Amino acid sequence: MPKTIVAGNWKMNLTSRDALTLVKILDNTIESKKVTIVLIPSFTLLPAVASVIPSRFSLGAQNMHFSAKGAFTGEVNASQLQDVGCSYVIVGHSERRHVFGESDGMVNKKVLAALAADLIPILCVGETAEEKDTVDAVLKRQVETGLASVTKSQMKKVVIAYEPVWAIGTGNTATPAEADSAHGVIRKIVSSVYDVKTAESVSILYGGSVKADNCKELFKQKNIDGALIGGASLDAEEFSSIVADA
Ligand code: 13P
Repeated sequence: MPKTIVAGNWKMNLTSRDALTLVKILDNTIESKKVTIVLIPSFTLLPAVASVIPSRFSLGAQNMHFSAKGAFTGEVNASQLQDVGCSYVIVGHSERRHVFGESDGMVNKKVLAALAADLIPILCVGETAEEKDTVDAVLKRQVETGLASVTKSQMKKVVIAYEPVWAIGTGNTATPAEADSAHGVIRKIVSSVYDVKTAESVSILYGGSVKADNCKELFKQKNIDGALIGGASLDAEEFSSIVADA
């Protein structure tokens, strides 16, 4: 799989009919073979999308519970995601952390459960507007705790997404230099926990108001290996154009 990843987090949008139309258009418009493409719809859309998704795209889920099974009303586990064809799962998205109260400890349990089920976790980290002055410390805590007990060999199957909370859905994307600097900090943290080789091979995606008209400069940065796209992933033309630039 190419290290460059463009993933579309559709969040809580679309019905199955819209989703099928979107996949069809993306299949017709995306040509690049240099990029790993991951489509990440709501749980209810997963079977419909799985039934039409071309094999050159991967399927992911937006969240999962860390337990293998049990009395957890409203939750979905890793093997259920595997069962419907997912190979990726977003873990610790800022909307989960800040709207639904997920802690670093819960996020870590999810990363471990995803890896145990052979799903690739996309571990999301990023500071809020209030934490901007302490971004390095926030990233250190989120990355180190999120990856606790993850082995060096398991790191080959981990993707990290830097999503500054203040940039999500606001139109205020981080500047390419700001994003690259945060990605560099994340790579250093991975290097100090594991080693340089692991840090160099991990894909670190940028997320937060990425659009067709701002992605080129972001993708030029040394430490940016792709993007996790929210709003623009619902627009086939925008998403295809971002993939073409990656
Ligand atoms: P936007 O691209 O809508 O800012 O969302 C980013 C995001 O949260 C992706 O996970």
